[in-house]
Amino acid sequence: MPQNGPMKAPPRLQSLIDEGLIDSVVRQLMSGKEAMVYVVRCGDDTRCAKIYKEATQRSFRQAVDYTENRKVKNSRQARAMAKGTKFGRQAQEAAWQSAEVDALYRLAAAGVRVPQPYNFHEGVLLMELVTDANGDAAPRLNDVVLDSEAARLHHAALLQEVVRMLCAGTVHGDLSEFNILMGHQDGVDGPVIIDLPQAVDAAGNNHAQRMLLRDVENLRNFFGATAPELLATNYGPEIWDLYQRGLLATDSVLSGQFARPAGAVDMDGVLREIDDARAEEARRRLLSNS
Ligand SMILES: Nc1ncnc2c1ncn2[C@@H]1O[C@H](COP(=O)(O)OP(=O)(O)O)[C@@H](O)[C@H]1O
Ligand SMILES: [Mg+2]
Repeated sequence: MPQNGPMKAPPRLQSLIDEGLIDSVVRQLMSGKEAMVYVVRCGDDTRCAKIYKEATQRSFRQAVDYTENRKVKNSRQARAMAKGTKFGRQAQEAAWQSAEVDALYRLAAAGVRVPQPYNFHEGVLLMELVTDANGDAAPRLNDVVLDSEAARLHHAALLQEVVRMLCAGTVHGDLSEFNILMGHQDGVDGPVIIDLPQAVDAAGNNHAQRMLLRDVENLRNFFGATAPELLATNYGPEIWDLYQRGLLATDSVLSGQFARPAGAVDMDGVLREIDDARAEEARRRLLSNS
């Protein structure tokens, strides 16, 4: 719906207007699965305001990932969160929301292409509006048509960002074509990474490896649909292996190939054998019953 002039501010943004953090609300940009996003004016700047939905309105998968993954420093908070008390739910909610702000500050400082955060107030994140070269809200990667050369270029650029994030101690955890904007930032066209409330500490989280591998696989599968040779690459395990051995640097040269180190357990092979044994057992039972 095209709109002229500012719209009436939604209630959750009113306190930011009262505080003078924003001047007016231009329009709603998106209502995603976890948040509602608005374009707002702050003095001469156009910015983006992300209002988090209540945990109960969020998707279940994210809530589970989140609860399993989060390390809480304060143990009273941790116990309350585990028990699911009102205090616990509030603590969990606050931790979830501030996780995105923390990650944005850390990653922006590390030179990762993310929106610059400006403020976090009453469950609303104020950040840079990622725009295209015309100044319009940038499209999601999912909504952009790519040729194979562009697919290869953006895939390489995003792997670089993943490495940069990991060197800064962070795994995104929900990286996909829906959380990447094709923007124009600092005079450079290219992917900008958004949506980080589930980001985890790479060193202190049991799921960090699984999340990193999934992020890198998402990139491979998305770009591989346009540039099929990417489907044969295996960057995730290579990146994680370098990271774990303390060898990952922002300028590490990657091959996209990963050979399992000699002597390591071939888990896939083990699982395949278990499946084979189960199938064999089932076959024998069928035969003996007939
Ligand atoms: N900083 C930003 N600049 C421009 N658009 C944004 C920005 N942040 C979010 N958006 C838009 O809002 C949508 C939802 O935001 P996102 O952070 O992904 O939340 P959700 O958890 O709801 O997916 C995005 O897909 C994107 O289109
Ligand atoms: Mg999103």
